[in-house]
Amino acid sequence: MRASAAARLPEPARPEPARETDPELEQIELELLLEAIYRRYGFDFREYAVASLKRRLWRRAAAEGLDRLSLLQDRLLHDPACMQRLLHDLSISVTAMFRDPTFYAALREKVVPLLRTYPFTRIWCAGCSTGEEVYSLAILLEEEGVYERTRIYATDINEDVLEQARAGVFPLRRMRQYTRNYQRAGGRREFSRYYTAAYDAARFTSSLVANVVFAQHNLAADRSFNEFNLILCRNVLIYFEKPLQNRVHGLFHESLAPFGVLGLGRREGLLSSAYADRYEPLDAAERLYRKVS
Ligand SMILES: C[S@@+](CC[C@H](N)C(=O)[O-])C[C@H]1O[C@@H](n2cnc3c(N)ncnc32)[C@H](O)[C@@H]1O
Repeated sequence: MRASAAARLPEPARPEPARETDPELEQIELELLLEAIYRRYGFDFREYAVASLKRRLWRRAAAEGLDRLSLLQDRLLHDPACMQRLLHDLSISVTAMFRDPTFYAALREKVVPLLRTYPFTRIWCAGCSTGEEVYSLAILLEEEGVYERTRIYATDINEDVLEQARAGVFPLRRMRQYTRNYQRAGGRREFSRYYTAAYDAARFTSSLVANVVFAQHNLAADRSFNEFNLILCRNVLIYFEKPLQNRVHGLFHESLAPFGVLGLGRREGLLSSAYADRYEPLDAAERLYRKVS
């Protein structure tokens, strides 16, 4: 699904309307709305963490000038552009290059040596957002001499962010922070050699994505599509309720090759998942786990 240019225009500021005060009514409207989205568009948000979901839905309702979730449901059913705008709101695409630098340092020290033992490596970056994570990974693998024999599958539910990821153009003002992150992650070169600056943008060299396939994939509904030696899914599961987290862990377990590695976000872990005993920690603090059964 592609968003029209109009779907990305900034929203005019509107006052936030009062939320439904009857919680029972709000719950009914919420469930009907999520069911409507699922049946009309196939996006399944029924097991997303409720509090943040509600907040975003009400914010979308306000931006559309609506004061009921049931009115938002009606708009969504009949206006696919509104669905795109909501998708944008829900997909929470905050990201950064070399986000949590110590995670990347651990990737370099503990995972790359494992990848070196394979003649060819497949990596899945699930929920890659606008691509900063993918470019960071490509830089790291390139510096370690394994990028040439790697293919990265970078997926996200939101085609809009994937389009930005393919372009590889990030705000120049963030380069100072990214350079610091890169250095703390053990970067070996001048970070600025990876991009060209033009006006307020930094365009990353396209060779970094020569071995990357960007594709839409919905973790809540789609199936496994390959076997991987490394899966990164950082800061995505945090938005899901337990049953959906378990579904996604099942998907990852099925998609990992024997002794493949799973990397999660800072505030995500395997311990409470149904798959905890199928992995051993490679670096528990950095949320890196190795599949053992
Ligand atoms: C907070 S960003 C994380 C980006 C990156 N992984 C990082 O850690 O910086 C979460 C991403 O998950 C994606 N996402 C949310 N629900 C998803 C789903 N059901 N399937 C695939 N991606 C999803 C969002 O579109 C968003 O780009």
